[in-house]
Formats: sequence, structure tokens, C-alpha cells
Amino acid sequence: MKIAIRYFTKTGNTKKLAEAISEVVKVPALNAKDNPITEDIDILFLGSSVMATKLRRQVKDYINTFDTKIGLVVNFSIGGLIESTYKPVRKLIQNRGYKMAPEEFHSIGQMWKFNKGHPNKEEIKAAKAFSKSILKKYSTVEK
Ligand SMILES: Cc1cc2nc3c(=O)[nH]c(=O)nc-3n(C[C@H](O)[C@H](O)[C@H](O)COP(=O)(O)O)c2cc1C
Repeated sequence: MKIAIRYFTKTGNTKKLAEAISEVVKVPALNAKDNPITEDIDILFLGSSVMATKLRRQVKDYINTFDTKIGLVVNFSIGGLIESTYKPVRKLIQNRGYKMAPEEFHSIGQMWKFNKGHPNKEEIKAAKAFSKSILKKYSTVEK
């Protein structure tokens, strides 16, 4: 089973979630900016954050570069508020003909002086548990 992790981050918070997932799925968490998807993948964990109420343009541009087989995309995100990036990412993924997992992981993240220390230990632990449950559920996902 081929798994990949890519994330977009402005201040490093999404990277923290990506690294937590990486510990569980045992593949490196890579910054999407410098790491295009160049091979077929069974499960892609894709991380992003909410910026100025929406998904960053880079995420859309990145998804538009996909041209290999990707069995399933799993969204993880972080934001100053409760709203995640799931819906806009799902729209982009499905528009490209890829499959989006209905499950997602979202955490509150530090935003300037607000939400200090987030993602915190509990949220990192929850991100690990989430990735474990995804592996368990989709370990036989078809390409
Ligand atoms: C310039 C800026 C704009 C932001 N706008 C929003 C927003 O509209 N809604 C929200 O929920 N969080 C917003 N946030 C909070 C970020 O989503 C939060 O800080 C997150 O942890 C950033 O993750 P990243 O550093 O991995 O990109 C904003 C943060 C910054 C720095």
C-alpha cells in the first residue's frame, strides 16, 4: 500500500499535524510546495489551513497538477475557528475525478495571539488516532 502525506502551511501548524500523521503511517510528511505527486498512490493525506476565510489558492493549483492514480484523498486541516477546509478541498478533488474520504481531521490552530499552543498535545494525539483509524478502514483501498 502506497501512502503519501502533503501539507500546505503558512506558520507551521499544519506541518505539526502532518508530522503526527507521519509517525503513524510511517511515510515522510512533505511540504506540498516542493513536492509534487509524481507516482500512483493509494491514500494521500492532504493538509491545509483556513486563510482569510478560505482555502489558499496554492491548494487548488496543486490539486490541478495531479495526473497519477490516487485511490483516496484524506483531508486534514487547521484553522483559527471550527470550520475546516474539507468542503472546498472535496469539491476540487471530486472535480478532478478523484475520491475523497468522508472522514476528516480538523484542529484549532494558533492564530496570532489567539488559540495559543494549538495544536496542543491532545490534538496531536487525536490526529494520530485519526490516521490510525483511516489506515484500519482503508488498508485495502482499490486504486
Ligand atoms: C493571515 C491569516 C489569516 C487567517 N484567516 C483565518 C480565517 O479566515 N479563518 C480561520 O478559521 N482561521 C484563520 N487563520 C488562522 C489559521 O488558519 C491558523 O493560524 C492556522 O493554524 C494556520 O495554519 P498554518 O500555519 O499551517 O497555515 C488565519 C491566519 C492567518 C495567519
